[in-house]
Amino acid sequence: MTLILGIETSCDETAVAVIADGHEIRSSVVASQIDLHRQYGGVFPEMASRQHVIAIVPAVEQAMREAGATWQDLEAVAVTYGPGLSGSLLVGVNMAKGLAYGLGLPLIGINHLEAHIATNWLDVARVRTSEQDAPAELAFPLLCLIVSGGHTELILMSDYGRYQRLGGTIDDASGEAFDKAARMLGLEYPGGPAIQRAAEGGSATAFDLPRARLDRPYDFSFSGLKTAVLREVQRFQPNVHRPADKVPGASEAEQGPVIPPHIVSNLAASFQAAVVDVLVDKTAQAADAFGVRGVLMAGGVAANRRLRQRMESALAVPLHMPPVRLATDNATGVGVAGYWALQQERVDGWDLDVVPGLQLA
Ligand code: KG4
Ligand code: ZN
Repeated sequence: MTLILGIETSCDETAVAVIADGHEIRSSVVASQIDLHRQYGGVFPEMASRQHVIAIVPAVEQAMREAGATWQDLEAVAVTYGPGLSGSLLVGVNMAKGLAYGLGLPLIGINHLEAHIATNWLDVARVRTSEQDAPAELAFPLLCLIVSGGHTELILMSDYGRYQRLGGTIDDASGEAFDKAARMLGLEYPGGPAIQRAAEGGSATAFDLPRARLDRPYDFSFSGLKTAVLREVQRFQPNVHRPADKVPGASEAEQGPVIPPHIVSNLAASFQAAVVDVLVDKTAQAADAFGVRGVLMAGGVAANRRLRQRMESALAVPLHMPPVRLATDNATGVGVAGYWALQQERVDGWDLDVVPGLQLA
């Protein structure tokens, strides 16, 4: 039995998990800062790192307590060292260093994107298969679609820890597009769940929004879509020139007349459909072209219900995705990827530093 402590502080969640043998969740604690950042309509970096400092020790203690583990039970400490906000990453990396040094354990730095991917190896994720009952094994090569607030990438995974980047966004990440569109529509942060909710009562064909087709088949662009939503918003609110012009709680006099609720629903539904269409089309195309044996999705946007349904029906190979609560940031994947690293004897030194712009491949 190998117990690994995973720590994740790359953005606005202070998360700690204890993972057994790379697939079983013994505990997973996520102290979310969403309520703190909501009033700013997005993550406020300085406040995020300060909040991590406050939350990290209690989160570690809670994760250990809920796992019923003692310090002596641990085999390694794994931590996200990038990509992410440097001030936030620093809190997790320093906590992990202190623990690993004090306990005489190996320290393992994990790429945040690999941690998202690795959530698909958890027992709780193995229920998703194209056949209803039998849990599917994840067979390589796999195609990974990472869709989060900071990333939109298509990655070919040939083995544990072996990645080849096929393409990615050339401007906004898909989650960022959800967040900006939500803000323009006067919906709260984070935008993905808010758009999904607003879209439920709307028509996905009410607005004909653009689906960017780029020369490079596996690249994405969402800025044209964002501008198209902005144009529609400006019909009601001419003073709004970019997402940041929408001030949460601003009066009608400052922002112009409110957008009628049915228009918000229709725009949210049409926007969501446009993002999902592009993600599904390009992923299905890459899955065919590279003859993969499965597709996996990871990252916060993989929580989106329409994306999950559309992707499943578009693919000829099994689709793997974490349960919704493990799609957004948490530390379970850090513990899983830490286990892979330990198996491959990939261990870091005490000079491990944060790398805010870290790439997967
Ligand atoms: O992976 P994540 O928690 O953090 C990053 O690594 O960025 O992803 C957060 C992003 C946010 O942009 C949020 O709006 C989006 O995931 N998101 C969603 C949904 N839930 C979260 N987007 C669409 N539909 C959802 N249900
Ligand atoms: Zn993330």
